[in-house]
Amino acid sequence: MRMKPNCKFLLGLCSMLALGFLYYSSGRLTLRGWGHKSLYDKQGFLLKLDGKLPLELIYKYGNLSKGACKPGFAAAKMTAIYPKFTKPAPMFLDPNFKQFSKIGDYFPPFGIKSQEKILDILLLATKSYGLGEELDNLSCKRCIIIGNGGILSNKSLGQRIDEFDVVARLNEAPVKGFEKDVGSKTTMRITYPEGAIQKTERYESQSLFVLSAFKALDLRWLQHMVFSQSLRSTEGFWKSVAKHVPREPGDMRILNPYFIQEASFKLIGLPHNNGQMGRGNIPTLGAVAITMALHNCDEVAVAGFGYNMSTPHAPLHYYEKIRMSAIKESWTHNISKEKEFLLKLVKAGVIQDLTGGICSAGC
Ligand SMILES: *[C@@H]1O[C@H](CO)[C@@H](O)[C@H](O)[C@H]1NC(C)=O
Ligand SMILES: *[C@@H]1O[C@H](CO)[C@@H](O)[C@H](O)[C@H]1NC(C)=O
Ligand SMILES: *[C@@H]1O[C@H](CO)[C@@H](O)[C@H](O)[C@H]1NC(C)=O
Ligand SMILES: *[C@@H]1O[C@H](CO)[C@@H](O)[C@H](O)[C@H]1NC(C)=O
Ligand SMILES: *[C@@H]1O[C@H](CO)[C@@H](O)[C@H](O)[C@H]1NC(C)=O
Repeated sequence: MRMKPNCKFLLGLCSMLALGFLYYSSGRLTLRGWGHKSLYDKQGFLLKLDGKLPLELIYKYGNLSKGACKPGFAAAKMTAIYPKFTKPAPMFLDPNFKQFSKIGDYFPPFGIKSQEKILDILLLATKSYGLGEELDNLSCKRCIIIGNGGILSNKSLGQRIDEFDVVARLNEAPVKGFEKDVGSKTTMRITYPEGAIQKTERYESQSLFVLSAFKALDLRWLQHMVFSQSLRSTEGFWKSVAKHVPREPGDMRILNPYFIQEASFKLIGLPHNNGQMGRGNIPTLGAVAITMALHNCDEVAVAGFGYNMSTPHAPLHYYEKIRMSAIKESWTHNISKEKEFLLKLVKAGVIQDLTGGICSAGC
């Protein structure tokens, strides 16, 4: 006798759950399966991209005189096409790095887990964590990331490049002898041990030496460079590495690994692989640097990225003779997925591409 209401209750509960489930799954279906309802792609970028400014940005920036630096522009434009974007993420690690929660749960290259002790030592020694007073003081910063592509050759962009407040170069890309095309200013050189300039005389006399750590060993390498200790073994590196970096500790920085994490898992959409390094889930240094700039610069430009499709025999890099046809399939990077991401940024006008290589096949 007393079972009956109980049963009825359960039955009601069940059907409510079932209905709820149907409702939930149909919602997911319309969001994911039949894409015609969603305005966003899998990564969360607006599908329909064009260079037009949203109304609120026209109101904010339309009034500025032509050519004036637009405060907050890159981040505002980024948020307009990628609503998940949240700006705060410091360029370099500083002694408060443990409070930046996004990097605590990941091992290198995506975070700082298990590296806290060595980071404390390094950051205590370098003492400086910004771009320097003059640049940190600017209320509007224009940054340019110089890729190493042959597409930079013979375009005489040097002067335009030098007009940026922050010029970031990657790895061993030379300046001397190429000033006409690549400029002569270097605010920072972002690199990792295997990519760093090896000949000490080739370092420019003033620039920040910025380590982008891709493995725990890279931080131990930096420790040797910071304290000018000789490197006893190069075991664990995938090619020869710099043995000495002619820079004072105060001119050395550690790039916030959040940019590697965000570029890989969120912006480009590479395999998460349980947060560990794996096949095709490491963004190139160029993509990492652009991600850094989106968070820390008011306007962002790039040059030397991508290839000119109509000249397959042109040099791969602006400073050496290797041809583009020599490109090898990479295990670590996913160049084609990465290019899709860069294309979105250029298409929407979040970044400006001075050499036009990112959209060389159309935008
Ligand atoms: C736009 O510029 C005009 C002229 O310089 C100025 O009077 C006006 O206040 C500005 N409007 C906004 C919203 O800044
Ligand atoms: C930066 O700003 C601070 C505080 O406004 C000022 O004291 C300092 O002189 C500025 N430094 C430079 C290099 O402009
Ligand atoms: C750039 O110009 C030089 C001299 O005119 C020429 O030898 C070289 O092939 C050119 N490089 C490219 C990539 O077009
Ligand atoms: C790059 O991504 C595409 C699409 O997700 C995938 O098919 C391809 O295997 C990936 N390449 C590498 C090298 O991981
Ligand atoms: C690509 O190469 C062609 C042929 O040399 C040239 O006309 C064109 O301007 C180049 N495009 C870019 C974006 O460099």
